[in-house]
Amino acid sequence: MLYSEDLIEEVRIRNDIVGVVSGYVHLERQGRRMVGLCPFHGEKTPSFSVDAAKQVFYCFGCQKGGNVFHFVMGIENLEFPEALRQLADRANITLPEPEDNGERELSRQKKEISALNREAARFFYASLAGPGGLAAQQYLSRRGLQEKTLRAFGLGYAPDSWDALCRHLQAKGASAALLDAAGLASSGPHGPIDRFRNRVMFPIFDIRGNIVGFGGRVMDASNPKYMNSPDTPLYNKSRELYAMNFARLSHSKRIVVVEGYMDVISLHQAGIDTAVASLGTAFTQQQAWILKKYAEEVVIAYDADSAGQNATLRCMDILEASGCSVRILQIPDGKDPDEYIRNHGDERFRNLLDHALSLLEFRLLVQKRAHPGQEVEDRVHLLNKMADVLASHGNAIEREMTMSNISGEYKVSMDALKTEVDKRLRKNGRDAPPARLSTNSLRMRPVSEGPARNRYDEAELILLCLLGNENRLFEEISLRLPLERYRGTVSRVVAEKLYERLQVRREASIAELVNDLPPDAASAVIHMAETRGTVDNADKAIQDLLRRLERIALEDEKQWILDNIRSESDGNRRRELGVDLNRVIARMSALQSANDG
Ligand code: UTP
Ligand code: MN
Repeated sequence: MLYSEDLIEEVRIRNDIVGVVSGYVHLERQGRRMVGLCPFHGEKTPSFSVDAAKQVFYCFGCQKGGNVFHFVMGIENLEFPEALRQLADRANITLPEPEDNGERELSRQKKEISALNREAARFFYASLAGPGGLAAQQYLSRRGLQEKTLRAFGLGYAPDSWDALCRHLQAKGASAALLDAAGLASSGPHGPIDRFRNRVMFPIFDIRGNIVGFGGRVMDASNPKYMNSPDTPLYNKSRELYAMNFARLSHSKRIVVVEGYMDVISLHQAGIDTAVASLGTAFTQQQAWILKKYAEEVVIAYDADSAGQNATLRCMDILEASGCSVRILQIPDGKDPDEYIRNHGDERFRNLLDHALSLLEFRLLVQKRAHPGQEVEDRVHLLNKMADVLASHGNAIEREMTMSNISGEYKVSMDALKTEVDKRLRKNGRDAPPARLSTNSLRMRPVSEGPARNRYDEAELILLCLLGNENRLFEEISLRLPLERYRGTVSRVVAEKLYERLQVRREASIAELVNDLPPDAASAVIHMAETRGTVDNADKAIQDLLRRLERIALEDEKQWILDNIRSESDGNRRRELGVDLNRVIARMSALQSANDG
């Protein structure tokens, strides 16, 4: 983080959320809250509310929520530092200049490289149209590219010469050092020589459309097939997605990720203007963040070879963990998207796109391919592998529907499948039936929004929200539930921040707490704060929540013991487990009578 927590907090406090939101949404007072039509989802009756006292917003319809930073990030589509800057300006707070001298020098160099790249791209483009570019033109048209596609993607040709580009750029004043820094030249015995020679040239754009590097393809079968710019101050391969500058402008929010330059270009020419490529390098977390920001759904359409399948597995794991909704497109005849379109046309490809597999379907397919045996034991093995896949899949409805297909296809009873999957589900400790809370001070409703949570998250988050509203409860809560005992995925992050602030500064609010939480986690916290975080009797609610958490933990433990007793063959060990089981059951009934009493 570039700025101190105190400064961030000052910017937040000096921007009243009601004032900021009113610039975008017409608000009317309704009791404690101001309400209006939600700007984040379409609606006709207002479910969007701003809580002036708590300085947070929350939509009861789409469940988005956060403080003033999250509102500006969401509505202006900004990253946190940009939202901070905007709100600081609004409140006439001058942020310290984050650039030191080193950074200023770097940003000057980036500008120079960018200008140089633009000139180089012009040179390549002109060479393609010139007399030396005839073979390249023929090559590109053989590959089915139309004139307007060449123009849109700025394709060009690097002449068959040692230094044509270098001489051109040096005549325009570029130094040898700059040519080298831009990755356009390497040093030869008589000065700089061109990196790209006799190749078809693909400029690589960053998301704003600056040319950050190039890829160059040979026109015959020689190697290397593609030559690419090295990483430079301007170009970081792990951060760019080829053609993202076009895809982000599309009306469609379904982004198609492919492997190569030609796949992207063919898809765009076929009207699928959301195709982007990770360009042969392994898919990265930074690329996932970009997709998360612009895509409602990501379809992975990698090559149909085994390298492509492995790259798919990696890519989908990263995307899923980043909270993207993902599908997998499988190309039937062992080719890449470019060749498929060339052979079968746009419509057939669109059809593949519409029938892309869900993650669950794809993971099951991978197991099927890996275990093709037809003997009974092969099938049992495969079905067990499929049960593993099913049990690690979060959506119960999809699980159930898929199980019924598998049951039909493999002629096993639904009961048997269910038993196997349930056994694994319990072991994974997720998605078991929700624990009932025996108090009417808190309404129970399953939570479906936001980042992945487990069954501890809900109760732990409500507890933290109560603590955010009533700091006086800190001593008791931190004693009964010390940090290391938090078991929720989101709640643990929140607890760490809240506990730290309460220890250091003795006071903390929910709105402050979410300052630098990612929007999803912030929404989860505000959702709890606004729907469950206000109760008549906080002390009683906390006792209830602590008991409920203990009961969830006991249920998990009980189930674990039961699973183990069944599979345990050692008599002594079974007896020990029996003793444990009795202890757990006794504690559960003690809790129960405390509730009833
Ligand atoms: P592919 O080998 O699948 O090539 O590499 P392609 O995209 O289908 O290319 P065409 O259709 O033969 O022209 C996928 C991507 O991996 C990178 C490139 O970005 C390429 O588009 N790559 C591949 C390289 O960087 N260097 C290489 O030598 C090969
Ligand atoms: Mn190809």
